[in-house]
Amino acid sequence: MILVFNFGGQYCHLIARRIRDMGYEAQIVLPDISFEKVKKLNPDGIIFSGSPASVIAKDAILTDKKFLELGIPVLGICYGHQLITKLMGGVISGKRIKEYGKQRITVKSKSKILAKTPTKQIVWMSHGDTVEQLPKGFTAIASTNDCVYAGFSDEKKNIFGVQFHPEVVHTEYGSTILRNFMNLTRAKKTWSLKDKEKEIISNIKGLIGNKGVIMGVSGGVDSLVASVLISKATRNIHCVFVDHGLCRKNESEYAAELYKSLGIDLYIEDASRLFLSKLKGITDPEKKRKIIGNTFIEIFDKKVTELKKKYKDIEFLGQGTIYPDRIESAQPGGKAVVIKTHHNVGGLPAKMNLKLVEPLSDLYKDEVRKVGELLGLKKEWLWRHPFPGPGLAVRILGGITPEKLRIVREADFIFIDELKKSGYYFKTWQAFAALLPVRSVGVMGDERTYESMVALRAITSTDAMTADWARLPNDLLERISSRIVNEVRGVNRVVYDITQKPPATIEYE
Ligand code: XMP
Repeated sequence: MILVFNFGGQYCHLIARRIRDMGYEAQIVLPDISFEKVKKLNPDGIIFSGSPASVIAKDAILTDKKFLELGIPVLGICYGHQLITKLMGGVISGKRIKEYGKQRITVKSKSKILAKTPTKQIVWMSHGDTVEQLPKGFTAIASTNDCVYAGFSDEKKNIFGVQFHPEVVHTEYGSTILRNFMNLTRAKKTWSLKDKEKEIISNIKGLIGNKGVIMGVSGGVDSLVASVLISKATRNIHCVFVDHGLCRKNESEYAAELYKSLGIDLYIEDASRLFLSKLKGITDPEKKRKIIGNTFIEIFDKKVTELKKKYKDIEFLGQGTIYPDRIESAQPGGKAVVIKTHHNVGGLPAKMNLKLVEPLSDLYKDEVRKVGELLGLKKEWLWRHPFPGPGLAVRILGGITPEKLRIVREADFIFIDELKKSGYYFKTWQAFAALLPVRSVGVMGDERTYESMVALRAITSTDAMTADWARLPNDLLERISSRIVNEVRGVNRVVYDITQKPPATIEYE
């Protein structure tokens, strides 16, 4: 098993994912973990993740130097690379040129970690500080034009540092580098999803006994797989779908049919009027998310109270929390860099007096889908594009009104409909329409128009951490654009978003 120390970098769980994809167990821990605990966990190797922080800052998050003396291979990535330098007595400076995005490294000396990779290769960099002087006993193994020590190692001790991110797909030989690292450890390939669903169901049974479970669901993959797993452990599960009025077209009907076909009890709470009245006039993205999150909890809480009166044995709250959600809410130093507030992360308030049951809390998204397949769930349910908790609110820039919701909902419906008809729906990872906060001039018939602009975003990705824009065929884009302009009242222009993530995000707010 590999311990991945989470220093707060946004790619931290990608490292663990890559390790698991190779068939090995990986566990993410916080850097203040005690030496005794690590010894007890008996890892086969340690990886220090990246971080948005600086190792030379006064309040830098460090870790015990003894972790480098366990006699097992250690790999430091980005911040981790600088941390090894600092712990071992090297020098780091914050003054040098900052490198972001794709860079080319040159391999300087033979290293076990760079085995089977060419002398020149493309890597993904994102750093401000730079290693200036190596600690004693270390050798430079790779450099870029601006960074002399883009990689270093102590080959005898199997300690390695790389300034770039091997876990990111843009690093050409990233998986080879991680595999090289794994080959240096004594780790065995014990991570497998075979019979995982049986193991999870039996664990749920052990946890809940014959008590009842209440669960919030969305029609999305995670809550679906989680509720089906729980329903296999107990028939005493009651699901709640809160309609916040920011859903896609026909979404609550979809959820109603889906849960009916599975024979799982579902309550649909239409709270759209309340949500929309609270959102009236709010334009700040973070404020919108907060209002939606808090109102969701308020509505859900009321429903829980009501259902607890009806079913006296309800003691558990089911959640579709997946592994990255858990890791993101446990950040080093308790101060994660908030890129966005994800309202559906982090557990509902304790005042509900319910214990949590989270069947997917050790799994990544693609693993959740595999478990769904093992449960015999349909492809179109499992491979639905992700949809954000705050819904269309993050796709309408600026204030939310029923009119804007109508536009974005209709445009989105046409886009998805055409993607499905052309076979491109399952070839893209996520696709949607967003409403931009601008109007532009157009001409329809003999009349000049001054109307809304819709942006279409379709991306390919494996994990939403990085994404590329989908190269959709021109004739498909043309069909979608003319259908939207012709069928959605109030739209006279359609644009296609060709930005990668990073630097852009997938959603607009
Ligand atoms: P971004 O926009 O951060 O999105 O590149 C990455 C993935 O996360 C989804 N997303 C959310 N999902 N609650 C969610 O459940 C949220 O608040 C939220 N914001 C973004 C987004 O759709 C994409 O798949």
